[in-house]
Amino acid sequence: MAAVAGTGVLGGLAAVWNRSHGQQLADRSEPWLELLDAEDLPLVERAARKGVLYGAATNHRALQGDPAFAARFLQECGVLVPEYELKWSKLRPDPETYHFGPADWLVEYAVAHGLEFRGHTLVWHSALPAWFHEVVTKDNAERILVEHIRTVVKRYAGAVHSWDVVNEAVLPGDSIPGGLRRSPWLDLLGREYIEIAFWTAAEADPNARLVYNEFELDYATRAEEAKRRAVLELLERLVSSGVPIHALGMQAHLRANRYRFDPEVLQAFLRDVANLGLEIYITEMDVRDHRLPTSIRERDAGVARTYWEYLSAVLEVPQVKAVLTWGLSDRYTWLRGNGHAVRSDGTPVRPLPLDDQLERKEAWGAIARAFDTADPR
Ligand code: XIL
Repeated sequence: MAAVAGTGVLGGLAAVWNRSHGQQLADRSEPWLELLDAEDLPLVERAARKGVLYGAATNHRALQGDPAFAARFLQECGVLVPEYELKWSKLRPDPETYHFGPADWLVEYAVAHGLEFRGHTLVWHSALPAWFHEVVTKDNAERILVEHIRTVVKRYAGAVHSWDVVNEAVLPGDSIPGGLRRSPWLDLLGREYIEIAFWTAAEADPNARLVYNEFELDYATRAEEAKRRAVLELLERLVSSGVPIHALGMQAHLRANRYRFDPEVLQAFLRDVANLGLEIYITEMDVRDHRLPTSIRERDAGVARTYWEYLSAVLEVPQVKAVLTWGLSDRYTWLRGNGHAVRSDGTPVRPLPLDDQLERKEAWGAIARAFDTADPR
């Protein structure tokens, strides 16, 4: 194995062999480095012994077509979230049809392998099918929304740990009262679309935990502070009016070296949410490395530090009960393509715990260490 001697910057004597790249890492003091070789305990088990669920989003094509990936998914994960199979754009090819095949396969796969299953997502402004804007009007919107939720949630009732009932409904920049996002649902039904969605889901599956899911709630920036305030206002409105909601989903799509992170600011927000009687799930975690250098060693270190600083902060809040990454291996990250910003050096991003060869990266070690050092729930 090629050994990479410590450089002036990272110099030092102690070293850790990084199995996945066969490289010797220069002296670094991060506490997770030794985990990459020491224990083999997968993330699901490290999380479970602290009362936390760990899992990831994936899709039926990856699990069906890539047995090596499927094996690693089953080794590391205890929760499966469908990346796109339950979104309107995939599920509803036309107003009369539900294309349940791929989602059915994923639910059966989860049940067969003892995985929890998270439903994602019932109501979103994005991923709407082309017919939606031609067919749905103010007169039929409530009927179409209720029928969709009832049909989908009843189908999987009893097999779903939690549903992302409403996704990304807040955007203060749209200057709508309550900081709500302008969306087809808001235009068609007013802000009550949110309550309608939660009540309908609760009626269809009284055992599923019902979640409001949101992104960009993480950093100590003015924009994300405004979003945190608006989300809290929404949650307070829902809880005070008795709407059946059980958790806030924090997507946690993070960016290394981009914005100021203040653990106390984030923890204060999470405690405000918990004081409403809600749990918190970290639902879509990944770390963009666009602002890190080309060197894989430096990028993986920067991504790992971002996972560590975020997870060690949020796991201090006992109501944080689940951590999910949006993908498990860089091989299938949604951040490669889909029109996402490409790194200036053109190299593929590396946002997830496993690399393209399905080997554990420093990020895996940082997540593992965060679970290991968390207090039990
Ligand atoms: C993403 C999927 O991963 C992509 O495959 C798809 O092209 C776009 O949507 N927030 C969400 C997820 O709630 O549903 C999104 O998933 C990522 C951002």
